[in-house]
Amino acid sequence: MLGNFVYYNPTKLYFGDDAQKHLAEALKDFGPKVLLTYGGGSIKENGIYDEMVKALKEAGKEVIELGGVMPNPTVKKLNEGREIARKNNVDLILAVGGGSTIDYSKGVAASAWYDGDAWDHFWMHFSDPTPDARIIPVGAVLTMAGTGSEMNGGSVITNEETKMKIGKVFDSRLMPKFAILNPKFTYSLPKRQLSAGIFDIMSHLMEQYFSGDDDSTSDYIAEGLMRSLIASSRVAVENPHDYEARSNIMWTATWALNTLVKMGKKQDWMVHMIGQAIGAHTNATHGMTLSAISGPYYRYIMEYGQHRFARFAKVVWEIPAEGKTEKELAIAGIEALEKWIRDIGATSEISSLGVTETMLEGIADATFLGGGYKKLSREDVIEVLRRSL
Ligand code: NZQ
Ligand code: ZN
Repeated sequence: MLGNFVYYNPTKLYFGDDAQKHLAEALKDFGPKVLLTYGGGSIKENGIYDEMVKALKEAGKEVIELGGVMPNPTVKKLNEGREIARKNNVDLILAVGGGSTIDYSKGVAASAWYDGDAWDHFWMHFSDPTPDARIIPVGAVLTMAGTGSEMNGGSVITNEETKMKIGKVFDSRLMPKFAILNPKFTYSLPKRQLSAGIFDIMSHLMEQYFSGDDDSTSDYIAEGLMRSLIASSRVAVENPHDYEARSNIMWTATWALNTLVKMGKKQDWMVHMIGQAIGAHTNATHGMTLSAISGPYYRYIMEYGQHRFARFAKVVWEIPAEGKTEKELAIAGIEALEKWIRDIGATSEISSLGVTETMLEGIADATFLGGGYKKLSREDVIEVLRRSL
């Protein structure tokens, strides 16, 4: 049965191979000073930067630049951005990039006008901005499909000193006011990032799907999204310029984590909790941390949610149930997932991300414990990590 919920998502989306044409229209609602945030420079190589600056200038905006947002953005970088945003009294932050740049921009937007220790307040204590807090609006131009950050309130920040990577989910005030989704903007992504993004999408869906055993519309939606993702991923890894596949992947990413498929149901999120702890210790690519532990994790918890895993095999992977026990069917589904991880070029071992046996305890200590079908203890986490090496 669906639980009770409030659903509200204020992000306006512009989707398509000319979506950036709507930028001028989207910018009208905001003041003249725009903080343009971006990552390590890919947008300068693929021409998106020039296009954005031109559009901003034509819209009469004053552009303040803040580049160099790294994958897995850090507290140090966050504090640099807070200072720049505040000093320049910006009216809008336009994030042009993947999840890291968009997450980062939300973090700056929430904390620029907060006087205390932002990391401690918003991330360590998961506090929300007060009702009267001054929050800078954020707009997004997406260049990598995966995180869903373009239509959610998530902001994941890494503290390199304490080796903690924490995802704060802000309320709707921090969701992007608008997002430009042009699938062609993702064409220049390196293959490894394409694979990581695809697996991240799948993981978001599985985290919300593998919990509960009731009849929920949210799970049927998740199954449809997973099926679409699997089909499109196979095309995109072979032919990265296939627009149909890339557009489906981008749209799936957005819906996989814009709060829709979690409505009224239980969720898991342990793969992300462990994956983030691995990220904090290795600075590894987010999607790869998830693909590396998913097989061993789902095998570890399968018996506690066997019925759902069997449904996953049947509906998502189209594995015939005939002649199989429920357990055999459930295992076949996980095997199909593991094969797909290899097929799309995502990693299956944390050792390939730089994790060694001696790091397992530290990673387990940095993991927020919880779970869906099974609540994991610290020892369980270490065991899952060991099986993922
Ligand atoms: O730095 P640039 O130059 O932008 O290059 C990036 C980066 O090196 C590159 N890239 C992005 N678009 C490109 C491109 N290269 C060529 N052409 C393009 N069109 O790809 C690399 C990875 O980018 P990044 O933004 O780090 O990737 P992703 O979108 O996967 O974001 C990862 C971050 O998001 C967090 C992760 O933990 C991680 O910190 N997450 C955010 C979530 C949310 N907001 O809800 C949920 C997720 O589970 C995730 O935790
Ligand atoms: Zn993720």
